[in-house]
Amino acid sequence: MDGYFRSTVVVVTGASRGIGRSTALEFARRGARVVLAARTADRLAHVADEVRALGAEVLAVPTDVTAPDSVRALVAGTVGRFGRIDVLVNNAGIGKVGAAESATFDDDVHQTLRASLFGMIDVTRAVLPIMRRQGSGTVVGMSSVMGRKAFARFGSYAIVMHAVSAFSDSLRQELAGSGVRVSVIHPALTATDLLRDTDEAEMPPPFRHMTPLSADDVARAVVRAVRRGRRRVVLPRTASILLLAEAFSPRLGDLVATALTKRPVARMLGMSRGTTYHDAILSLPATG
Ligand SMILES: NC(=O)c1ccc[n+]([C@@H]2O[C@H](COP(=O)([O-])OP(=O)(O)OC[C@H]3O[C@@H](n4cnc5c(N)ncnc54)[C@H](OP(=O)(O)O)[C@@H]3O)[C@@H](O)[C@H]2O)c1
Repeated sequence: MDGYFRSTVVVVTGASRGIGRSTALEFARRGARVVLAARTADRLAHVADEVRALGAEVLAVPTDVTAPDSVRALVAGTVGRFGRIDVLVNNAGIGKVGAAESATFDDDVHQTLRASLFGMIDVTRAVLPIMRRQGSGTVVGMSSVMGRKAFARFGSYAIVMHAVSAFSDSLRQELAGSGVRVSVIHPALTATDLLRDTDEAEMPPPFRHMTPLSADDVARAVVRAVRRGRRRVVLPRTASILLLAEAFSPRLGDLVATALTKRPVARMLGMSRGTTYHDAILSLPATG
């Protein structure tokens, strides 16, 4: 630990479980003061105890990122307690699985936009004046591999993840010269509760045999991205092959996506190592 994050103030949304919880703990291990935001107060209190057990200062603020008053209270509470905000990790979000022709598709898009995009925009806009005054800070956007390449039956999620990526890209350029940096993270399938209620059979074929990342893998990538000022991080690195193929031509992107449905190809790229999402998630207690 090099002390880079010692006493920095890090706000993590969606910190009650999954990637957000792991990210908060990872920053706490590096000496940061951590602000936890999510809707479920008792889960937040539990994560706050875990942060304290690491010897770090913590503030838990029950927050709904879709409610503007709640967002204002989060930012006011943070500045009231710590006087500054060095890192904002916009991680709160939801995800739905369903085909474009399914009856709930419109609703899925609207709900995901509210929680994962407009929530992020609102929190970011509330925090930016503070970072601009400081002349420093980092805003992290949590997108997905699906923020660069959509998969069948993940249309509603992919639409929103593309938007999270585009917002981060545009914001980074608007903030050039201000001292405020923007990083966007694109993890592949991760073993969290996000898709716990999705039937294995409903998952697009490559996801049925893919070995998920752990929430801790993603958390370490977030911390590294902030430390190194990385603009964009794709996890695992081999997923970049898919994104490069897609950038070159959608036909090639689809070919790689189809090839990943073959277990040996996914295995060769290190994306199918035995344990699947459903194996991993069923071995973990539900935290929702
Ligand atoms: N799991 C994956 O495969 C994967 C892959 C790539 C990217 N991601 C992204 O990673 C982020 C975290 O997801 P996860 O996988 O850790 O899922 P998760 O375990 O379901 O956690 C989602 C978090 O977001 C919070 N949240 C949801 N709606 C909220 C709202 N309106 N206001 C405040 N907090 C809210 C939840 O807490 P409360 O319910 O307590 O509010 C929870 O803490 C999401 O943005 C997701 O899109 C996930």
